[in-house]
Amino acid sequence: MSSSWLPDSWKTRVAKQQPVYPDDAVLAESLRKLSSLPTLTTAWEVERLRSELAEAVDGRTFVLQGGDCSESFDDCNSTAVLRKLKVLIQMSLVLIAGARKRVVRIGRIAGQYAKPRSSDMERRGDVELPSYRGDIINKPGFTLAERTPDPSLMLAAFERSAMTLNFIRALSEGGFADLHHPENWDLEFVRNTPGSRRYQQLLDSLSESIRFMQVVSPGELHQLRRVDFFISHEALLLHYEQALTRAERQRGWYNLGTHMVWIGDRTRDLNGAHVEYCRGIRNPVGVKVGNSMTPEELLELIQILNPENEPGRLTLIHRFGAEKIRDRLPYLVEAVRSAGCRVLWSCDPMHGNTHGTRSGLKTRSFDDIISEIISAFRIHKECGGRLGGIHLELTGEDVTECTGGPGNLTETDLSRDYRSTVDPRLNYEQSMEIAFLLAEQMR
Ligand code: PEP
Ligand code: CO
Repeated sequence: MSSSWLPDSWKTRVAKQQPVYPDDAVLAESLRKLSSLPTLTTAWEVERLRSELAEAVDGRTFVLQGGDCSESFDDCNSTAVLRKLKVLIQMSLVLIAGARKRVVRIGRIAGQYAKPRSSDMERRGDVELPSYRGDIINKPGFTLAERTPDPSLMLAAFERSAMTLNFIRALSEGGFADLHHPENWDLEFVRNTPGSRRYQQLLDSLSESIRFMQVVSPGELHQLRRVDFFISHEALLLHYEQALTRAERQRGWYNLGTHMVWIGDRTRDLNGAHVEYCRGIRNPVGVKVGNSMTPEELLELIQILNPENEPGRLTLIHRFGAEKIRDRLPYLVEAVRSAGCRVLWSCDPMHGNTHGTRSGLKTRSFDDIISEIISAFRIHKECGGRLGGIHLELTGEDVTECTGGPGNLTETDLSRDYRSTVDPRLNYEQSMEIAFLLAEQMR
């Protein structure tokens, strides 16, 4: 940690993608309240995630990071959280069993409420209003009252994050994630696809092995009673991140509103406020790496964010698109490798593959997503390294937002249950299918 860094150093830099709050005094009051509340996570947990990510750099574990593009306040309910947790646990099970590797599960959850937008304003007819930036900032409805940034929403988002994480902790400690009861992890929506049959077989053989182990070595089974689950979000709204940044004796500063943060592709300027903020915290940091990134810029960014070259500190999450990955990724991987940087590479096959439909919805094709994943595994291998993780936008619900996949969704099917107010997510079935593909690639 640099001695000249403080949680508010970012204010000396240009901060992109920040809302303009109408009243400074109201903003200050919300931040004061936020910074006095108990934190969601602890420094020990954050350090534990760092060590787990360091193992992923060496290929001993694989990182599964996923969740909504943006959480909504309405979706902070038991069913939705349970389903998100469930799909991630089920996917990890497929990876563990299929690829015989430990999996680090990280949700885009319990704080993923702010969204970067391509335009500050949205125009409809003659009316122009601030863009919707996520439930932590304003509301999606198209009226001035709803679109005006409201600082009290930061408190509401923090409270929902706390409730979400509390529920996740209760579920993962309290029996739901107990491998002795794999029936808890059963599939809900899909019963008769090749994916669900494969998953059922996997559960059956798992239950069989557990029964066997229970007989031969009951002591060792204790650790199967719970799963580890970490939370993450994009460090976008810097007032919020600053208010949750706390000093821990000796060790330094931690963002204790989450375990891991990442910097988005639009806010990763070397001299920008987001990089400045993330530079000073001990949390594992991810950076989205899109098509405009050059090898020189990437090496500088790595130098700023991980000057000690510690594995586990920095995850590079590339998101090029199924076509462009072949041109872009090899140079970057090669530059990082020859500089000897110990970073984790993860693939986000979602954000480079978004396109509009004729009826004006945003979608992604399952085939493009698969194609980018397969290319990513191949390119890392050809460059003598490894893909250590995957970053997905998904939900445990049966939504229709991405085309293709086991249900063969077409563009016309999308209107059936399209719920996202931001980016399209993989539904439950599509997510499980990706897990099987990943397991196959990892083998
Ligand atoms: C996101 O992860 O939701 C996102 C906006 O990604 P990116 O910064 O890669 O565009
Ligand atoms: Co998104």
